[in-house]
Amino acid sequence: MIFESHAHYDDEAFDEDREELLGSFAENGIDTVINIGASLESCRKTIALMEKYPFIYGAMGVHPSETGELDENGFQWLRECCGHKKVAAVGEIGLDYYWKEPEIPVQKKWFERQMGLAKETGLPVIIHSREAAKDTLDMMKSTHAEEIGGVIHCFSYTKEIAREYLNMGFHFGIGGVITFANAKKLKEAAAYIPMDRILLETDSPYLSPEPFRGKRNSSLNLPYIAEKIAVLKGIDREEVYAVTHENAQRLFRLGRFAETKGTD
Ligand code: NI
Repeated sequence: MIFESHAHYDDEAFDEDREELLGSFAENGIDTVINIGASLESCRKTIALMEKYPFIYGAMGVHPSETGELDENGFQWLRECCGHKKVAAVGEIGLDYYWKEPEIPVQKKWFERQMGLAKETGLPVIIHSREAAKDTLDMMKSTHAEEIGGVIHCFSYTKEIAREYLNMGFHFGIGGVITFANAKKLKEAAAYIPMDRILLETDSPYLSPEPFRGKRNSSLNLPYIAEKIAVLKGIDREEVYAVTHENAQRLFRLGRFAETKGTD
């Protein structure tokens, strides 16, 4: 079975056919999806999705580019959302210097606060870091991310930076970028990262793998990503599915939901 660790099915790109698409996942081998909050509104929609679909779990967080909307009230609401029984992580949170909006001190402030929320709730984090490798690492060190654990989503840095995250016990979300012809650095890093630290992700509706680059993405494209990882690792695709599934179950501790909730 396939574990999709990062998707945004609340996005309006799925308004036309969301039900039909999500309904096709089981027959395509996808048995678990983490839907990722990126703003307060998308957290609200994520809760609705995970209450409707047994196989969807949620991450609650505000993406660095959206942190301008946060204030103490919003943060308090986010904290309450983290108490929902199907919330598996705090995220996506982090730093995005490609879009320096809002300004860096604002991004940093809410990254730190949300790291604190993860520590307080005992949830792992899902980190978004774009063109901000050094500051992300510095902040992860200062907030003792190694005690929190989590995943670097859409990892796109070098092998050397991968080593730093590995030393902190972090996992790596590998998505469609691995299929791009120009992703040499990422392929090197992915070959280096041990298989037991890799999660499969799409970031749907963004970042479609080849041969669908530029089109709307969905978890149905995960086989293209798994195939690339399989080639890099010299294993077969089924093994990539099995190991990444186990990794994600362990990281997000999904076993605890079965214990407390019966059938889910
Ligand atoms: Ni995302």
